[in-house]
Amino acid sequence: MEVRLAECAGFCFGVKRAVETVYEQIETGKTIYTYGPIVHNEEVVKDLEKKGVGIIENREELISMQSGAATVIIRAHGVPKEIYDILEQKGFEYIDATCPFVKRIHRIVEKESRNGRLIIIVGNQGHPEVRGIMGWCNGPVTVLETPEEAEKFMPKEGEKICIVSQTTYNYNKFQYIVEIFQKKGYNDSVVNTICNATEERQQSAKVLAREADIMIVIGGKHSSNTRKLYEICSRECANTYFIQTLDDLHLELPKAVRLVGITAGASTPNKLIEEVQNYVRINF
Ligand code: F3S
Repeated sequence: MEVRLAECAGFCFGVKRAVETVYEQIETGKTIYTYGPIVHNEEVVKDLEKKGVGIIENREELISMQSGAATVIIRAHGVPKEIYDILEQKGFEYIDATCPFVKRIHRIVEKESRNGRLIIIVGNQGHPEVRGIMGWCNGPVTVLETPEEAEKFMPKEGEKICIVSQTTYNYNKFQYIVEIFQKKGYNDSVVNTICNATEERQQSAKVLAREADIMIVIGGKHSSNTRKLYEICSRECANTYFIQTLDDLHLELPKAVRLVGITAGASTPNKLIEEVQNYVRINF
């Protein structure tokens, strides 16, 4: 039996950068907080907690804090502009670990909404990245999650719109939604802000799942890109498992299994991927 890891799996550039920033700051001996969990992976967050890193859950908590000697690190998925304002007003020392690809979306929506365009974010309404992007709009903004919602949504006639996407959104679905608005005849400015890391992971997961008898997808329960990998793999391979850590893996492998494929979301550390890989290799 072969165990094969998808060509692209695990930490993406932005997450790696943010996590490394936190570990570097721990070394300074200062009191460290991250604004929200630094990435969507409970294992990473637990390890940081063990090392004394606190999490500021929301703006109210931030407002109630004393700036003191603490350093606040802004997570990879970004935060609304208001949070920077509060950090500045309160005199916090802070480090911005927002992924540059997310930062680019902030700049686009800030500029386009100032130019009078209605901002349409294609993505998951409740996702922190999307909430962060909304917080950089200077005017009306709406979030659309599905093509059905896009069909129903009718901005005023002649309204200028700007469409961007959550970095982890599915490329084909995004194109489809853009076409819906183009057919309706709106004056649109479209910026495909889907991150390559997502496409690469999705593509290589799909290729592997097509061949594999069993697919294991590793990632946090709240990670939207991991859930999407799971969806994609399930379509190609009926025996697809979603696990957070090795403890969730309860495999009974039939003799006929030739290939076990493994992939992991963009917030999954290498250590976890290796553990799962080694476990399957050794035990089956
Ligand atoms: Fe950045 Fe893309 Fe990762 S937007 S955080 S490199 S998935």
